[in-house]
Amino acid sequence: MTAQLAQIGNEVRQSHACLTVVGAGPGDIELITLKAIKVLRTADVILYDALVNEELLEYAPQAECIFVGKRKGCYAYQQAQINELIVRRAKSHGHVVRLKGGDPFVFGRGAEEMEYAAAHGLEVGMVPGISSSLSVPAYQNIPVTKRGAAESFWVITGTTKEHKLSEDVALAAKSSATVVILMGMSKLPQIVELFKSEGKSETPIAIIQNGTREDEKVGIGTIQTIEQIVSEKLLTNPAIIIIGEVVRHRELLLKAKLEFGSDENVGLSAVETAKSN
Ligand SMILES: C[S@@+](CC[C@H](N)C(=O)[O-])C[C@H]1O[C@@H](n2cnc3c(N)ncnc32)[C@H](O)[C@@H]1O
Repeated sequence: MTAQLAQIGNEVRQSHACLTVVGAGPGDIELITLKAIKVLRTADVILYDALVNEELLEYAPQAECIFVGKRKGCYAYQQAQINELIVRRAKSHGHVVRLKGGDPFVFGRGAEEMEYAAAHGLEVGMVPGISSSLSVPAYQNIPVTKRGAAESFWVITGTTKEHKLSEDVALAAKSSATVVILMGMSKLPQIVELFKSEGKSETPIAIIQNGTREDEKVGIGTIQTIEQIVSEKLLTNPAIIIIGEVVRHRELLLKAKLEFGSDENVGLSAVETAKSN
């Protein structure tokens, strides 16, 4: 069996039956931390989700890799089953890595899994990841704050555990903050209505599907036009919704690039730019 390590803060400890919850980043395999790779190399078992880029598993050829996400045609694990699997595998194999898309503490249930594991005698640790909530807009040149455009940002789940739109969306719509909504595509009509009722029909909005990945798709519009754009571009999950004046930053960059004649990579995402170079 390989050495077992649990990451607690900056400490890497030798131990048996341990869990490390690790952020895999938003999709582009280069958007994972060095610390996460180090931990993957010590894993005996990896339990990973649908939003994790499977190429990352190549850092752990020694590990047993179990897909526990939701995907069409695959058995869907319930959270309680995942919790149990973590504990059972850690006790039988040693170091379990729970690899999750983005950052495990941003709508990732990482904290719950750590609590369960700790309550069952496992040593637990975590390695943060780059959350899609910041990096997916950033890859499309959309900052979540910008002087003069937004002083704060909200990151909200579009769908609560009762399958309803979070009430925080209505509160955020009243503010001048940038609003980033995860898991909100099925609630887009409701979101649009909320912003319209606040007199924000002309507020810019971006929807980014599979952000930072090769199959990334982007729709940019206003609250008034976005539903039409979504249906034309067939935008669907997994996607992030970004609402606010910051979305215009992308256009401003585009204009500047055109003005200075460097139109080669204008409007391309970082992934597309990398590919075209
Ligand atoms: C359960 S949440 C997990 C978020 C994750 N912990 C994070 O920090 O990015 C899943 C939702 O995140 C968003 N998401 C995650 N990765 C994405 C990506 N690469 N592109 C667009 N949206 C993404 C989608 O809204 C998706 O439905």
